[in-house]
Amino acid sequence: MRYLLAFFALLTLIVVGIAGFRGGTSRKPPIELFPDMDRQPKLRPQTPDPFFPDGRASREPVPGTVARGQPFEDTPFNTGRVPGTTNFVETLPVPVTAALLERGRERFTIHCSPCHGQQGDGKGVTTKLGMAVVGNLHDPRIVRQPDGEIFNTLSYGKNLMQGYAPNIDLADRWAIVAYVRALQLSRLATLEEVPAELRDQLQK
Ligand code: HEC
Repeated sequence: MRYLLAFFALLTLIVVGIAGFRGGTSRKPPIELFPDMDRQPKLRPQTPDPFFPDGRASREPVPGTVARGQPFEDTPFNTGRVPGTTNFVETLPVPVTAALLERGRERFTIHCSPCHGQQGDGKGVTTKLGMAVVGNLHDPRIVRQPDGEIFNTLSYGKNLMQGYAPNIDLADRWAIVAYVRALQLSRLATLEEVPAELRDQLQK
């Protein structure tokens, strides 16, 4: 019992000694029990700081930063759909140039040909590895689809196919759509559509 009383008296002294002087002023430097918490090597937002040449602690966002909650621009280029509707756009929202097709050919070879084959006929290398149903891009059902639907399929996937939006940026996805159209045309065009000076080469 005596020890308990002595301990209690000591504890009271310690508590009063530490807590009792809180808020009091003193000329002596304060005791910092955890100095690394009092003084953290970090920058506080909206404060001056000499660390960066412009003297500001807050940094400008990296160019191209998309703010959280920033409204997604409802344009055909971003969505493949007619703005304000769920209808797919009929044609590409970008001008079709030789450079676009060349880019599309390259990207198609990288991202699509393993499954769909270099010609888009669905006979890619993965069919040999057991992938049974791969869409044949020359299927009339797919030829009739609007450009926006192809864009949607390759962006977000369809049935067994996964989406490639995270892997391929928007402009490249449209380049691929343009190239898929060129592939389809390569099987559908008539001889009359080929420029006269090139027809001979084809008939050989
Ligand atoms: C990993 C294999 C794989 C890759 C890579 C792939 N696809 Fe597919 N794709 C499929 C399969 C499988 C289907 C058939 C899906 C089904 O109907 O179940 C398909 C179907 C399609 C269709 C037809 C969709 C429909 O309306 O039925 C289109 C168009 C298409 N792919 C375009 C592309 C394009 C463009 C790329 C390149 C960006 C691509 N795919 C890459 C496997 C792939």
